[in-house]
Amino acid sequence: MLNVQIKAMGHALPTRVLTNSDLEKMVDTSNDWIIETTGIIERRIAEDSTSTSDLCYDAAVMALHNAKVKPEQLDLIIVATVTPDMPFPSTACIVQKRLEAWNAAAFDLAAGCSGFLYALSVAEKFLFTNGYNYVLVVTSDILSKITDYTDRNTCVLFGDGAGAAVLGRGNSSGDAGILSTYLTADGRGADLLYMPAGGSALPASEQTVREHLHYLKMNGREVFRFASKAMVEVSENLLEKAGLGYQDIDVFIPHQANMRIIKTAMKNMQIAEAKTLITIDKLGNMSAASIPVALSMAVSEGKVKPGDVILMVAFGAGLTCAGAIIRWGWN
Ligand code: UT7
Repeated sequence: MLNVQIKAMGHALPTRVLTNSDLEKMVDTSNDWIIETTGIIERRIAEDSTSTSDLCYDAAVMALHNAKVKPEQLDLIIVATVTPDMPFPSTACIVQKRLEAWNAAAFDLAAGCSGFLYALSVAEKFLFTNGYNYVLVVTSDILSKITDYTDRNTCVLFGDGAGAAVLGRGNSSGDAGILSTYLTADGRGADLLYMPAGGSALPASEQTVREHLHYLKMNGREVFRFASKAMVEVSENLLEKAGLGYQDIDVFIPHQANMRIIKTAMKNMQIAEAKTLITIDKLGNMSAASIPVALSMAVSEGKVKPGDVILMVAFGAGLTCAGAIIRWGWN
């Protein structure tokens, strides 16, 4: 039996900070409303000259260094993002070029904020079935570049960042690794969170720019409703597949979209706040990067120990909802 394991994590965050009081000067909002409604105090925003592949590269370098894996040892690079450098080529190929990972296949995956967990599950299959030794999963979103900073409904929510994981096959005697993954999608919610223009349905034109159609649009209330239900359903499926119960979870990493959604999930799952990783206050919603950044930071700070059972659940554009349970460690 070969276990697919996360060998190491990495992350990258822009240094520029956007606070709630900065936003008070930009739109009709208040620090109190943002904190009470979302739990966000500040978020990081990429420089204008920084692209998604730049953040991916920095996170990947850290993960490869921590894993002691050389770029040429990679068999596959998957980049999960909804803000690629450009529609094509894939951002994964641009990252491959910068890493000089010449032996790796490379492709992008779009699953909104669930991107890291979708990519983790895909990577697991390649490691099982293709005989691959190492797969790099990188997720980065620079949502600030598609956020309308005149729309108070969305502009207070998002931050930029990147997280990376190096996955490999552990040996048969070890018990660390991915215990279960579960992916869902409901395309009936495709227009609840989307960017209307810039694709084949509505190519860029003067009109699309004038009408702000290159910015993300969201029906927050409906996404909130979907998330509160889907996160529990996905978690229960994951636990059943892994033969575990909520009491077995040592670390809970929910997608960081809204503190109220996180609190509802903790209550429904009876998982204590002390076991839950929370970054939303300082980093906002970083889309697909939220979970890997939280995990990478926790590993760096020694908050995740070998043997810990980690439950990760995310939801996002699609609508998608996905999760994974892993036992942390490399053996
Ligand atoms: O990562 C996945 C994608 N995103 C999400 O998961 C987001 C999920 N949804 C949410 O987190 C919440 O729905 C939001 C934080 C987006 C909004 O919270 P809400 O409790 O659903 O508020 P709402 O949209 O129902 O708006 C309530 C009121 C409205 O005013 P009226 O119509 O009641 O007078 C909004 O206009 O709050 C108003 N509002 C604001 N007020 C001050 C909306 N945005 C703001 C703002 N500042 N920034």
